[in-house]
Amino acid sequence: MAKTDRPNFGSKLGIILASAGSAVGLGNIWRFPYETGNHGGAAFILIYLGCVILLGLPIMISEFLIGRRSQTNTGGAYSVLAPGTQWKWVGRIGVLAGFLILSYYSVVAGWTLEYLLQAVTNSFAGKSTNDFIASFQSFSGNPWRPLVWLVIFLLATHFIIVKGVEKGIEKSSKMMMPALFILILILVAYSVVLPGAEKGIEFLLKPDFSKVNGEVFLGAMGQAFFSLSLGMGSLCTYASYFGKNMNLTKTAFSVCIIDTMIAILAGFIIFPAAFSVGIQPDAGPSLIFITLPNVFQQAFSGMPALAFVFSVMFYVLLAVAAITSTISMHEVVTAYLHEQFNMTRKRAANFVTGCCIFLGIFCSLSLGATKEYTLFGMSTFDLFDFVSTKIMLPLGGLLVSIFTGWALDKKIVKGEITNYGTLKGSIYPYLIFLLKYIAPVAISFIFINELGFLK
Ligand code: PHE
Repeated sequence: MAKTDRPNFGSKLGIILASAGSAVGLGNIWRFPYETGNHGGAAFILIYLGCVILLGLPIMISEFLIGRRSQTNTGGAYSVLAPGTQWKWVGRIGVLAGFLILSYYSVVAGWTLEYLLQAVTNSFAGKSTNDFIASFQSFSGNPWRPLVWLVIFLLATHFIIVKGVEKGIEKSSKMMMPALFILILILVAYSVVLPGAEKGIEFLLKPDFSKVNGEVFLGAMGQAFFSLSLGMGSLCTYASYFGKNMNLTKTAFSVCIIDTMIAILAGFIIFPAAFSVGIQPDAGPSLIFITLPNVFQQAFSGMPALAFVFSVMFYVLLAVAAITSTISMHEVVTAYLHEQFNMTRKRAANFVTGCCIFLGIFCSLSLGATKEYTLFGMSTFDLFDFVSTKIMLPLGGLLVSIFTGWALDKKIVKGEITNYGTLKGSIYPYLIFLLKYIAPVAISFIFINELGFLK
């Protein structure tokens, strides 16, 4: 395909919303509150903010400039910028990570649809905590139901991808992101006025540094990576559709601010409500699927209509946040196959969706029907999560920072930051310093820790 024929996002707002849509997802609404709860609240949030600014921001700018300068998918970008070198593997690792993350992420995304259906059919009404635990276990262990949702979720993602960049990704993000933001604000407003909500608010705002240890730092850094969609080329691929006049630094700032704000607002939905009904903040990954429906019932026990509205809105929000992220993972692989292997976009998308349904089925079954079959002591689901987010994303981010900080011609870096002389680009020296030294050292540290060498 000739370079001039490549699709582009139609507007600056569309670009920001599509990129923010990639970043905002289950990572913000499900994982962030649970990590915050496990790591003691406000102090974790402060360290997380530091990671977003020192690591997330510079690596996001790097992914943006690599994508926009190369004008191609992440799998081909490094061959354009550093032809004949082994840097091409950075993009290829990203494509593979995209495949793996999309497969297991869609399983959890599918659960949000099951819970949405339960909320809509008012199945939460009158259930006790134990009923919620039992119903989650029987659902996630059921061999068929989660598979049906997985397929539906991936087909919905597929449908948007096939529509293309401007009509599919941009248009859907423009509708879904503002809706998501409004829903979150409404839910926060409900949650913070519940009786006893103050304790939850205090948990989020009053740092207790006595709980901070190395693990908290490393947890915060890992969360920043996953939540900002960094390390596998999602934002790099999106940036290849950015216009030449787009200010990359400003866009990265906007995406980081939106992503962080939504994560913190999700905390303001979940913790005040959880404290209000006496549920521990460190309930872990089950927080949303077991505890929250319970929280809604108890918090609004005298007001079943409000409990109904609150739960329906919450799961709509979760599904919307998840699909704008799965689109960005799907696009990484689809664009790669489409541009590098001369497949039509539709065929590439069919292939990706088909493979992810196939892999997703194994992930989903590994939580129930095939639980006893493990590899390295992990279920397929856990293995995919481990390999992709704990190995491939940090590795990708590390290599991106080294590539931009050390290998890439500085004229290109500066040119992309200043739009070749039209912008001031005063962030440039700080950016280079962060990419050359701070990011590689910090990420190596997370990486080594996550592999357990330091334990
Ligand atoms: N950032 C997304 C979330 O928070 C997940 C994601 C990771 C998306 C990597 C794209 C790439 O849910």
